[in-house]
Amino acid sequence: MFGPLLRGDKITLRPARENDAEHFVRWFADMEVTRFLARRMAITLEQEQEFLKKVGESKDDVWWVIEADGKAIGATGIHGINWLDANGHTGIVMGEKASWRKGYATEAMRRRTRYAFRELNLHKLMTEVDTENEASRKALERNGYRTVGVSREQSFRGGKWRDRWLGEVLRDDWEKKQA
Ligand SMILES: CC(C)(COP(=O)(O)OP(=O)(O)OC[C@H]1O[C@@H](n2cnc3c(N)ncnc32)[C@H](O)[C@@H]1OP(=O)(O)O)[C@@H](O)C(=O)NCCC(=O)NCCS
Repeated sequence: MFGPLLRGDKITLRPARENDAEHFVRWFADMEVTRFLARRMAITLEQEQEFLKKVGESKDDVWWVIEADGKAIGATGIHGINWLDANGHTGIVMGEKASWRKGYATEAMRRRTRYAFRELNLHKLMTEVDTENEASRKALERNGYRTVGVSREQSFRGGKWRDRWLGEVLRDDWEKKQA
């Protein structure tokens, strides 16, 4: 499913449009963008169009394009949602490097977290981040995610094995912070 339009102060989360696929072709060919992602291979236009179709039809994923100043700059989603246990895994990519360090990821996660707890009625959100990905972890912690543990030597990149930080946020803890 595509999530509905969620307007923040600096960014907007919106459903995908037909021409969005081309942005991802460019972003996923850039190793600086993908270095911390689980998916590190480039993608063709057809593969990305297929992905957008699949994610739009999925009943267990909620996915948005992130927009700033009317331009697509990235994407975020809640994946593998278990509707019985009311939990899911979150992820984000900011493909436009000129948009980094402007607080956009922090705000996109804020909108996503609120929507997950207040509209989807989820109980918990989980994620995994390369331990060297300080920016992502900071943005997650700003949004209430807490350490669950560290998965050792989980991915291989730049000639080295890298650990992954496991984080999660429970709705009750998040709600207390909203008061
Ligand atoms: C990681 C990523 C999502 C961060 O997005 P962003 O919009 O630049 O993040 P924000 O501007 O909201 O910054 C979040 C925090 O990280 C800090 N930060 C940003 N870039 C940083 C960097 N390169 N190194 C260290 N800290 C950084 C910010 O100062 C901010 O901290 P603060 O809240 O204490 O001020 C983005 O760089 C990205 O998508 N990278 C490529 C893909 C990726 O790594 N995705 C995440 C996989 S889990």
